[in-house]
Amino acid sequence: MLIAGNWKMHTVPDAAVELARDVARRVRSHADSVAVAVCPPSISLAAVGEVVRNTPVRLGAQTMHEAEQGAYTGEVSAPMLGAVGCHYVILGHSERRQLFGEIDAGVNRKTLAALAHGLVPIVCVGETLNERKAGEEETVVGRQIDAALDGVHLDSAAHLVVAYEPVWAIGTGETASPEQAQAMHRFIRDRLVSFGAPREVEILYGGSVKPGNAADLFAQPDIDGGLIGGASLDAESFAAIVEAASKV
Ligand code: 13P
Repeated sequence: MLIAGNWKMHTVPDAAVELARDVARRVRSHADSVAVAVCPPSISLAAVGEVVRNTPVRLGAQTMHEAEQGAYTGEVSAPMLGAVGCHYVILGHSERRQLFGEIDAGVNRKTLAALAHGLVPIVCVGETLNERKAGEEETVVGRQIDAALDGVHLDSAAHLVVAYEPVWAIGTGETASPEQAQAMHRFIRDRLVSFGAPREVEILYGGSVKPGNAADLFAQPDIDGGLIGGASLDAESFAAIVEAASKV
């Protein structure tokens, strides 16, 4: 199981350091059974990296540029993320797709670049409410997976994570039911395997995961953990979700 906190654009650096300390302290006792990651805003990656160094908590970034360096004002690259201790990088989050114009082909370039630099991409996929209402969730998510992983060859299941985040469940308080999530996770796993990916690639569920619904979601056979937004900003809630994962 893997529980990753996506802090999005929250926490000034001092608050990020404080939150990371609190998380590291609270999740220590579950380190044997659950992998835990925090993904702070990029301005706090270095400082949070110092806090979680020598703890079981891993560091992740929320996005990156696919080039190693260059004239890309405002961007950060995979080597930069690696240099401050990142293990993971979230790619293709629906907020990046919807608000910043990211497209499948770009997610693919970033995925290839992350892998080439030893980062583990957490590739996000998920359908909108209209797409689900139209019964198109598998078509949409299948297309996102196929595009993101074009040309990707995995030596190990540990080199990739996929997050299924139905857009209609993000920040809305509405969660996919465990059955809805399980069906999509199963679909994604089969799709990954058809690409030659190992069956063991972790598939996280994201979208209004809270301490109260985490256990039922994580009990599903193809849900390997969670990508947590709002609830990851509160160390107690985040630790409670980690605890729920530790009991699976
Ligand atoms: P919420 O948990 O706030 O719904 O956010 C989910 C998410 O987008 C994680 O990446």
